[in-house]
Amino acid sequence: MNSASNSSDNEELSKIRTHDIPSADAMSEFMKQGWAPSPLSGINPHPSIPFTKLRREKISKKYPGVRLVFPAGSLKVRSNDTDYPFRAHSAFSWFTGIIAPDAVADSVLVMEPINNGHEPLLFVHPRSVRDSDEFYKNTRYGEFWVGRRMSLEETQYKYEIKVNHIESIEQYFLDKKETLVIRGEDKTIDDLVLENTEGEKEFLNYTSLMRMIKDAYEIDEMQKAVDASVRGFADMVRVFPAATSVARGERIIESAFYGRARLEGNEPGYSSIVAAGSHACVLHWIKNNGDVLPGDLVLIDAGVEVDSHYTADITRTFPVSGKFTKAQRDIYMIVFKAQSAGIAAIKPGAKFKDIHAACMAEIAKGAFELGVLPISIEESLKPEFGLHRRWQFHGSGHHLGIDVHDCAHARKEEYSDANLEAGMILTVEPGFYIQPDDTLFPEEYRGIGIRIEDDILVTQSGAKILSNALPRHPDEVEVYMAKLLKP
Ligand code: GLY
Ligand code: MN
Ligand code: MN
Repeated sequence: MNSASNSSDNEELSKIRTHDIPSADAMSEFMKQGWAPSPLSGINPHPSIPFTKLRREKISKKYPGVRLVFPAGSLKVRSNDTDYPFRAHSAFSWFTGIIAPDAVADSVLVMEPINNGHEPLLFVHPRSVRDSDEFYKNTRYGEFWVGRRMSLEETQYKYEIKVNHIESIEQYFLDKKETLVIRGEDKTIDDLVLENTEGEKEFLNYTSLMRMIKDAYEIDEMQKAVDASVRGFADMVRVFPAATSVARGERIIESAFYGRARLEGNEPGYSSIVAAGSHACVLHWIKNNGDVLPGDLVLIDAGVEVDSHYTADITRTFPVSGKFTKAQRDIYMIVFKAQSAGIAAIKPGAKFKDIHAACMAEIAKGAFELGVLPISIEESLKPEFGLHRRWQFHGSGHHLGIDVHDCAHARKEEYSDANLEAGMILTVEPGFYIQPDDTLFPEEYRGIGIRIEDDILVTQSGAKILSNALPRHPDEVEVYMAKLLKP
């Protein structure tokens, strides 16, 4: 029985906690009465519908006769009785189109095999009926606590999928029909489906691979995510003076982006990196608790996830003062050239890994020209050496979409060894990071970390930079900052 609907779970969640006020029987009776119906107005069929239908038709053809199960996932405890904000699993979102404000924890999409295909059935936790304890006592699911959910009928109308009460899901699994599930998201569902390690691995791979070429709805949503993020970057630059005026100024910058992400989207698509000074050399600097000093660079990697769950993934490295020093500009230009070469390598028929190769040729060249590479560029670029990787250890990009690292379950031959095709969306994100204790570099270069990251759509003729509105060249970055910081 699904945890959302399990009556003993509901009783558990309706129990009073140490800080709750016990209810007298008279009050419990009183709470059952006097509630008017509250239908929603203004619900329209969602624009994702024609696209999700095609996606489901495609997977139906691949798995004739097999029941396919996509759990949205359960709430995850953050601490004691408080949960993390719910974020539906990406495969569930992709096959249903359900946007973040409408998503309900523990929902499940079942594609039930029928004569010539599959019937999609959505199982969701319904609205709280007013004469139940759940309504006002259950802190996880009671509408008194968490707000109104859409009714089953409203959900069915908005997403054009037949919707059932989550309580009825168990009966679908009694026949032990061959079933494939995205495992690990909902323990109750996992327990109902016989494990099939190889089959499930292949299923996960296929659902990941299906998302590689974006449809028109996805490209629009990605552009919205990028545009909101570009506004978020401007918000961050505007607070640089405030960030330099307090301790832990990185948090001021991070908060500015968070505000934009919450205003225009669901939330940031991943933990923002706001790395001032040598924090930029910590590849996953997400503590963001450092000071921001006027002579520093600040590397910011952030993306808004819009309500449909598509996320941008953009990095810029700014001089806090608005002007690059010579040493900062020297390193910046290496990365700028690497990124330009990586973007230039993008066209249908090129290989994904050509992008990295193009970036790395510039990184190796830059290191050689600065006199820190002890071997030739050609030698360093051979896999058996790769010494330039000391300054860019990470890859130069990835697929981007409903997950920041999208299509992550595709195989190597389907991803890094595969050809690029129109409709793919990728990041290109080379960097150059000189650790503060790297004695190969003169003092003035130590602690400089630069990354530039843009979001690129592969087109029939080459590439479109979705994040082109945010300047990349250092001269343009300085002009942009001067405009934003004008008193
Ligand atoms: N922000 C994560 C990445 O750039 O891959
Ligand atoms: Mn990235
Ligand atoms: Mn990034």
